[in-house]
Amino acid sequence: MVQTLTVLGLESSCDDTAAAVVRQPDGEQARILSSIVHGQTELHSAFGGVVPEIAARAHAEKLDICVVQALDDAGLNLSDMDAIAVTAGPGLIGGVLSGVMCAKGLSAATGLPLIGVNHLAGHALTPRLTDGIAFPYLMLLVSGGHCQYLIVHGPEKFTRLGGTIDDAPGEAFDKTARLLGLPQPGGPSVEAEARLGDPKRFRFPRPLLDRPGCDLSFSGLKTALMRMRDQIVAEKGGLTRQDRADLCAGFQQAIVDTLAEKTRRAIDLYLSEEPSDPVIAVAGGVAANSAIRAALETVCEENGARFTAPPLGLCTDNAAMIAYAGIERFRTGARAGLDLTARPRWPLDQTSPAMLGSGKKGAKA
Ligand code: KG4
Ligand code: ZN
Repeated sequence: MVQTLTVLGLESSCDDTAAAVVRQPDGEQARILSSIVHGQTELHSAFGGVVPEIAARAHAEKLDICVVQALDDAGLNLSDMDAIAVTAGPGLIGGVLSGVMCAKGLSAATGLPLIGVNHLAGHALTPRLTDGIAFPYLMLLVSGGHCQYLIVHGPEKFTRLGGTIDDAPGEAFDKTARLLGLPQPGGPSVEAEARLGDPKRFRFPRPLLDRPGCDLSFSGLKTALMRMRDQIVAEKGGLTRQDRADLCAGFQQAIVDTLAEKTRRAIDLYLSEEPSDPVIAVAGGVAANSAIRAALETVCEENGARFTAPPLGLCTDNAAMIAYAGIERFRTGARAGLDLTARPRWPLDQTSPAMLGSGKKGAKA
């Protein structure tokens, strides 16, 4: 049966409160009719990280405003929706609960079906929303809170090939910036400094490259950086602009080399499944880094795979990806009841061993 679906999506798992409306005629590419994101950066900036209680309260205050704005921007009413999709995990539990309770209220009041969406599935399915990429494709999720390689086989079928066992790369960039007195978010400021630096002056470790597989580790980089910084300060009494630039360049090169090598290994595993049109998609704020992007593009080219990255606004947290994942799940028949639970941890691939790390943005899945 051909069915056009229009879904309202809600997202509140970390520090962005978001609502969006996405429509997909069956067999055609989906369209984002509206997408509202209220960030909370300024609420948390004094604390050096996301404060879960503050985040949850801000979500509870902003969710209904976002929903009204998203419906207004789309020029639609709740009665035009076919379902309500909400992030039900993983994430900071207070925030996830705020979204789930809001969605349950809307569902109970309107009778619309409710769909619980895994936040990571939202990220992982975004290349289908933006470019209509066919299954199976390889996904590298790389942000301040996430870092993992996934083969995406279907809306509910993911194979995790590996991921970080401690910090996410964005988190490592942010900590590096803090250690060098550069502004937050750290990624763009470290990248800008790195352009002026010599990546060979300081030799940073390439964590876990000596071990097989696709797992990553980034927390050792900040310890190495701290040691190098302290040594320069002890010898010269402070850091020059060039010292700072060289430290940033060395640090960034270590991340570039590590991600390039682990991506090569992930591609090998992916290609062994013989996809007819191999595609590697990358998503997350760190995908904005041009050195990382260039390295990933080269690795894809060398391996005969297409490289794709959604526009930045859809790489970072948003509700359009949740509404779209809701559409994909709706078509598979997924429906949640009012007993839908909020989950702090929710691995996409239930068969892989649990990840160990827990970063600034909460538990990693
Ligand atoms: O996906 P995102 O907006 O939020 C989540 O983590 O969920 O990613 C933000 C992260 C921050 O840690 C930021 O420093 C990093 O992405 N980032 C970058 C760059 N732009 C943003 N990291 C490296 N290079 C960049 N140009
Ligand atoms: Zn995210």
